[in-house]
Amino acid sequence: MSELNKIALKIISNGKGILAADESNGTMTKRLEAINVPSTPENRLLFRETILSSESMKECIGGVILYDETINQTTSFGKLIPDLISSSGALPGIKVDTGAKNLANSSEEKITEGLDGLRERLKKYYKLGARFTKWRGVYCISDKYPSKLAIHSNAHALARYSALVQENNMVPIVEPEVLMDGDHTADHCLKKTSEVIKKCFDELILHKVDLSGIILKPNMILDGSSSKYKISGEEISQKTIQCLQNSVPSEVPGIAFLSGGQSEIEATENLNLINKNNTTKFIMTYSYGRALQQSALKTWSKNTKDIKKTQNIFNHRVKMCSLAAKGKWSNELENK
Ligand code: G3H
Repeated sequence: MSELNKIALKIISNGKGILAADESNGTMTKRLEAINVPSTPENRLLFRETILSSESMKECIGGVILYDETINQTTSFGKLIPDLISSSGALPGIKVDTGAKNLANSSEEKITEGLDGLRERLKKYYKLGARFTKWRGVYCISDKYPSKLAIHSNAHALARYSALVQENNMVPIVEPEVLMDGDHTADHCLKKTSEVIKKCFDELILHKVDLSGIILKPNMILDGSSSKYKISGEEISQKTIQCLQNSVPSEVPGIAFLSGGQSEIEATENLNLINKNNTTKFIMTYSYGRALQQSALKTWSKNTKDIKKTQNIFNHRVKMCSLAAKGKWSNELENK
């Protein structure tokens, strides 16, 4: 078993999942402004140190993805953020892409940037304690998208990123996200997501990436958010499993889904059904941002000093997701 494989398994085994707290300052500003909290470095830190000090971290969270600002911050009680995460038994991770920009010659689509200077940044992040990283490729979906160009260029970038990350002894999270936006059917999402993931693996293999030392972070197979269809959770789980079974090589240790705009309950319920029906050998867990933090953020905004109240909400959400990662979640437990 390679060191990278051990790290990957440590992050995602036994019902543990990933907290994606890697919102860029721009995204975090939108989230904070929506709840009338000024987006200052201090407030961004305060919310994050509140949830990272929660009791459920120990039991449920295997890794936390951070943004550059946060990995360099020290909590109000004097602990470096990476040390706070490690003290709960989780591994610190870092988002290393620099965002999605318009793709030349297909300007309605995006290409994720950040390869320039990446090797040097990775060395710096390793020294700060990061043991895994994230890079998100984003694909819009419609009759004509994602184009072959977007599928190819994002896969190429994900593979070059992954090779550099492994060279620096960290586990790359490979995140190809086919967006929920649109009126497409789940079958169209299945077709396009499969194409996207297969291309990613073609490129990862070409770039000699050790597939046992990565974590795949895909979208679930869903109807478009404005589609007139609404398939059941059971169908979502079956189509998602079918997609991954047919497009992910068996060496990959596990899959950690993004929530991508699903509500907290939808993301939990769907993950639970995926695990109940999982016929693959892949670990299937979560790497949620919004679906872990939304309610906690709302509660925190009402009284940022009431740490316990925010932590209680966060603890419940995280515990529910970890039950779902074992296929043991239920409505009764949710509402207990
Ligand atoms: O890149 C996306 C985030 O890491 C996950 O965020 O669960 O809110 O989609 P989300």
